[in-house]
Amino acid sequence: MRKRPEELRSHRWFGVDDLRAFGHRSRLAQMGFSDADWAGKPVIGILNTWSDLSPCHAHFRVRAEEIKRGVWQAGGFPVEIPVLPVTEQYMKPTSMLYRNLLALETEELIRSQPVDGVVLMGGCDKTGPGLIMGALSAGLPAIFFPAGAQLRGHWRGKTLGSGSDAWKYHAELRAGNITQAQWKDMEGGMNRSFGVCMTAGTAATMMLAAEAMGFSLPASAGIPSADAGHPRLATDSGRRIVEMVWEDWTPAAMLTQASVDNAVTATMAFGGSTNAIPHLIAMARRAGLALDLDRFDAISRSVPLVANLRPNNGSYLMEDFFYAGGSRAFLARIAPYLDLDARTVTGRTLGEDIAGAEVFNPDVIRPLEDPIQAEGGLAVLRGSLAPRGAVIKHSAADPRLLQHTGPAIVFESYDDMNARLDDPELDVTPDSVLVLKGAGPLGGPGMPEWGMLPIPKKMLQAGVRDMVRISDARMSGTSYGTCILHVAPESHVGGPLALVRDGDLIRLDTEGRRLDLLVEADELERRASAWAPPPRRYARGYTALFLDRVGQADTGVDFDFLEHGPPTPEPEIH
Ligand code: FES
Ligand code: MG
Repeated sequence: MRKRPEELRSHRWFGVDDLRAFGHRSRLAQMGFSDADWAGKPVIGILNTWSDLSPCHAHFRVRAEEIKRGVWQAGGFPVEIPVLPVTEQYMKPTSMLYRNLLALETEELIRSQPVDGVVLMGGCDKTGPGLIMGALSAGLPAIFFPAGAQLRGHWRGKTLGSGSDAWKYHAELRAGNITQAQWKDMEGGMNRSFGVCMTAGTAATMMLAAEAMGFSLPASAGIPSADAGHPRLATDSGRRIVEMVWEDWTPAAMLTQASVDNAVTATMAFGGSTNAIPHLIAMARRAGLALDLDRFDAISRSVPLVANLRPNNGSYLMEDFFYAGGSRAFLARIAPYLDLDARTVTGRTLGEDIAGAEVFNPDVIRPLEDPIQAEGGLAVLRGSLAPRGAVIKHSAADPRLLQHTGPAIVFESYDDMNARLDDPELDVTPDSVLVLKGAGPLGGPGMPEWGMLPIPKKMLQAGVRDMVRISDARMSGTSYGTCILHVAPESHVGGPLALVRDGDLIRLDTEGRRLDLLVEADELERRASAWAPPPRRYARGYTALFLDRVGQADTGVDFDFLEHGPPTPEPEIH
């Protein structure tokens, strides 16, 4: 069933014969459009997260024009709408504070304006989830257009992975193994083109998850930003969204529980970012579909990790992934673990979208029988230290530390950690467990990426490169090491993490999925009754709203007034 032009949502603004519609049409004329440009055509909003402070989206002004080309060709009327450019590198205290603001803005800009369908231009970490969450709540046909990964980094004859190799070589700088001049030289080779981080970080993970979920065109997640295929993808996306409007191919029509499970499965087999967990939970809840931490762990245990990419103790980067066949080949490889009947933005099934895709380099995208590791990259832990769960990316950890008991060294805040970490007097051994408090959704606020606590200098100089670290923070998708993250409830609200003291023994049992604080219950009760919540630091503005309404890590860090509830009614037009 195809829509008729009079059934378009935008028809209510432009197609009727009253004073308001006169104003709407005269303003199109003001912008230089004749009736022939728009009359009876789907209005396509192109939501663009471009900014001069968003290096990952530096190509988006050009790509928006390429999307428009496709919309015009298919008989639509494109309108570009700037939305909050959540930039990973420059927004402080953390971009995660602003993901929900982008989602809120996306939803409201779609609902309040005359658009029939949208193209979501995102990629840099929080932008994909924020745009998709908002579009799910708005409910119109939507297609995600991913920014694509940067070219490989390059320095002194070595390839560099953004994020991952910055952490790695900074540790070598602090250990005295590279010079300040070499470190400076690396600045120019780390990020060689526009596009998102080319490691298997959060951006690459969420682009892949969006494709597996059915939200973007086939192959889109693997195409590098600088490849000529990327503008072709832009134009294809513009063409397709017009058809989606006529077909009324909304997220509600397309998405099922299978779509969500496919996104999780792809994330696990990719060795994707820990950030995918709160993002995918938030996205699923916006769609009214079920997803919790236990589902992640169950899927992770069932699917092998086959992408041989950094930071998962792997060798390759996203450019290599593309040459090896890209996201279609990857999804085809893990097809036995996917529900191939799930539908996608193409209107076809995922199985049809990936049919015939081949892997060209089995060292990059491994055979199922020769994986990087036998199970997915992430594990969910529970126990007395994390009653509502915690997360570990064991694929990027030192295997020797995955079963470990050691005494805690506690940092009460990020500043406390920075002040004492490199102190020669710090009572630390390779067996110590570094604990950071006050970095959760409310404590950070916004769950900053502090979870890969630096290794104390004393340990670096002794040759130690990994230790067990625990926090209520997140970590960058490009980070690595034995880092236990997203501890819930967080310390700021009095979770057990708040009660840990120096010298307490903590036991990590990754195999058994346990994280326990080995302190007697009556002692913990004494500490709990003496605990007082930290003072509130923000009295006004968006951060105050965030503190009032945000949820914990295990439910996706979304706002309580956005994550559920009936759709907001369509606006009256008068
Ligand atoms: Fe934008 Fe890494 S900084 S994706
Ligand atoms: Mg990141």
